[in-house]
Amino acid sequence: MKTLWQGLRDHQASVAGRSIAGLLDNPLRAAEFSQTHGDMLFDFSKTNIDAVGLSQLLELVAASGLDAKRDAMFSGQLINETEGRAVLHTALRNLNAGVQVQGQAVMPAVRATYARMVAFARDLREGRIVGQGGAYTDVVNIGIGGSDLGPAMACLALAPYSDGPRCHFVSNVDGAHIHDVLRGLDPTTTLIIVASKTFTTIETMTNAQTARDWMARVVTDPAAQFAAVSTAADKTAAFGIDPDRVFGFEDWVGGRYSLWGPIGLSLMLAIGPAGFDDFLAGAADMDAHFRDAVPAHNLPVLLALVGIWHNQICGYATRAVLPYEQRLTRLPAYLQQLEMESNGKRVSMDGADLAEHSGPVVWGEPGTNGQHAFYQLIHQGTRVVPCEFILSRTGHELDLAHQHLLLVANCLAQSEALMLGRSLAEATAIMAAKGLAGAEPDRQARHRVFPGNRPSTTLAIPKLTSFALGQILALYEHRVFVEGVILGINSFDQWGVELGKELAVALQPILEGTQSAAGKDASTRMLLDYVMAAPKA
Ligand code: F6P
Repeated sequence: MKTLWQGLRDHQASVAGRSIAGLLDNPLRAAEFSQTHGDMLFDFSKTNIDAVGLSQLLELVAASGLDAKRDAMFSGQLINETEGRAVLHTALRNLNAGVQVQGQAVMPAVRATYARMVAFARDLREGRIVGQGGAYTDVVNIGIGGSDLGPAMACLALAPYSDGPRCHFVSNVDGAHIHDVLRGLDPTTTLIIVASKTFTTIETMTNAQTARDWMARVVTDPAAQFAAVSTAADKTAAFGIDPDRVFGFEDWVGGRYSLWGPIGLSLMLAIGPAGFDDFLAGAADMDAHFRDAVPAHNLPVLLALVGIWHNQICGYATRAVLPYEQRLTRLPAYLQQLEMESNGKRVSMDGADLAEHSGPVVWGEPGTNGQHAFYQLIHQGTRVVPCEFILSRTGHELDLAHQHLLLVANCLAQSEALMLGRSLAEATAIMAAKGLAGAEPDRQARHRVFPGNRPSTTLAIPKLTSFALGQILALYEHRVFVEGVILGINSFDQWGVELGKELAVALQPILEGTQSAAGKDASTRMLLDYVMAAPKA
């Protein structure tokens, strides 16, 4: 493995200064460095990966034992070794599978819960399940991390298909969040879904209590307007939620991989069970592709290899996800958790220090908005940020097709501009043409130079449908898995979030004034003094 990494580094060093645009002089490059799957097109020809680099990257895949590890995941083996759990989110979207975990068939329970979700969603959407004030108009999902980001992102992404109650999302323990969401709602026609895998997460439980108090001020039986999504049936019962309104799942569904099951309830309520089925079908389609396609033509593998090339080999520490799709506004945040909670680790599965850097910092915003904010740095900053564009061939607003055209033009222009750049000579000529004289054209031109040769990829889909969204999310999930396997990481635990949680719990009695701050460091003591000096209301 070590020599494969070194071989890649040596190759990268030997081609580092080469022009990506020059590579595209080869008329076959665009076709050879892109991959289709169905109607989806992934173009990675605007990177500096060449045939040698790609074959070295594929050797890395072979050496990582990906095939066996992928099969172990799909078949329910306990690949999340630090938590002793299987990793079976794929089973949630392949309801006919016959998966077993430690000799136990898991699918009957998955199918039964799914059927209950469908019945609940139908009854609620069709007015057979109602609140005290009549048919439900609004649903508030209270959850955080994987119990929020997925459904919040997907409800927005699939807004054109939403014909159910309005869905709202509360995640932050900051009271401002729940206050602002509940402010416009009628408690008598609002359903609260408490979504928490563990049903212990302090933010969620605090917000759930606040919602119950809000409901109880008006509604005579507030518990009847609550549902829960959790693996912890005992805790949902203790909270007073009717077991008929509790949708369980197993610990082999990781929080950030949980949108496909009961955590997706709010999405199912919004778009209906048929739309949700399409969403699952899209993901199942990508699962099948991931299992069946050879690595060289396997979209998740190729996406992962581009990631490894840019991060671990070229040393680019971040990657920007830039959907040219307003409704994917929350996708970068969703991918931040998916990628950074999964592959932001410093040791490999056996506890040894990682030989390579962990996964990159993932960030982004939809285009064209980002163009007017941070693209300046992407084009002219001193560090390279590989960009991952996402683009639909058509929008939903057919009467605004001219706006979609403009959107597409901007997306394509950005990847072109990043690659081509603008030389000093070109910029100087533009300045001279404006009539500048003497040293001015050169001085002004220097500010207008684009170094170019900056890599990007584009994932193009026909249209942002439920099916396509399912495909995209499963594609990214498997990309994370492949990167994790190559790096030797357990992509399915998240111990790095624990320390902060523990310290927050310990700080609470200090803030309440029942415990002394002695023993805390001087900086934390100063900050405690500052916040505790707030006038009491
Ligand atoms: O703090 C991290 C985390 O455990 C995530 O992995 C998870 O998605 C989130 O908290 C919420 O957890 P839960 O669904 O158990 O409330």
